[in-house]
Amino acid sequence: MFAMRIEPAKVNGRVIDCAWITGAGKGIGRAVALRLAKSGVKVAVSARTAADLESLAQEAELFGGRILPVALDVTDAAALEEAADHIEAALGPIDLAIFNAGSHKEMDPASFDTAIFRELMDLNFMGTVNGIQAVIDRFRDRRRGQIAVVASIAGYRGLPTAAAYGATKAALINMCEALEPDLRRMGIGITLINPGFVRTPLTDQNDFPMPFLMEVDAAAERITRGLAKGRFEVTFPKRFTWLLKIVRCLPYWLYLPLVRWSTRR
Ligand SMILES: NC(=O)c1ccc[n+]([C@@H]2O[C@H](COP(=O)([O-])OP(=O)(O)OC[C@H]3O[C@@H](n4cnc5c(N)ncnc54)[C@H](OP(=O)(O)O)[C@@H]3O)[C@@H](O)[C@H]2O)c1
Repeated sequence: MFAMRIEPAKVNGRVIDCAWITGAGKGIGRAVALRLAKSGVKVAVSARTAADLESLAQEAELFGGRILPVALDVTDAAALEEAADHIEAALGPIDLAIFNAGSHKEMDPASFDTAIFRELMDLNFMGTVNGIQAVIDRFRDRRRGQIAVVASIAGYRGLPTAAAYGATKAALINMCEALEPDLRRMGIGITLINPGFVRTPLTDQNDFPMPFLMEVDAAAERITRGLAKGRFEVTFPKRFTWLLKIVRCLPYWLYLPLVRWSTRR
């Protein structure tokens, strides 16, 4: 089936030609890759499962889009460096790198497990750091390039069962805030993407209510629109994220009893 082309993708008002997305085999990354390809961007896509990336490239071919599969594991820093070289040789300079690969595991304090912390830190946090390392020198040399980091509203404040996941996302948020001023001085942009709940293979596993659950195509649209506007933070759905931003400001004496009450069993 032929999908309609959409308007050219921009970052901070400027039309882009080449993007790289990690965690693009499924879910949010896949939807963003398709959206960018539909707007004429050449998109390199990474994840571990090569078959997902191949099917994505085939889907893009149907509407004349260009998607380059580059299978890798983001916990392997050297693989990301190699991938960046390979992508630029094949598609030209990367204008936008979206570090989106990530996962979630619940943490039950009754079976406190360091392995879960290590696994999620390696993937969600260090996987993103590895990606930034792979593009930062080339972006600095050109004084051009946009980094986008997919964190989560779960990083705003600590939430029960998300001690490991939330900590990785809080670390990403803090890292982006810390990097922004220096990157800007080097001519590099950074965007922090904090989604609420989005329907993907990851959230399909959740057995708890997910307020304001958003469809993945709508999430991809918010992400590309936010990037075009050049905002530092792209967060959605607004009704939910504004509520959480207010909750983020609460003092501990109010926040902690509120969380205990709302998660009582
Ligand atoms: N869905 C939500 O409600 C939601 C909300 C807030 C934030 N987020 C964040 O958004 C991002 C995407 O989430 P999603 O819901 O789209 O997840 P998803 O449906 O599980 O897709 C995750 C993608 O990441 C890839 N991936 C996982 N581990 C990887 C690794 N070590 N190296 C390379 N790729 C890897 C997976 O492919 P392989 O397994 O084949 O590698 C898959 O393509 C994550 O960072 C997540 O924390 C999601």
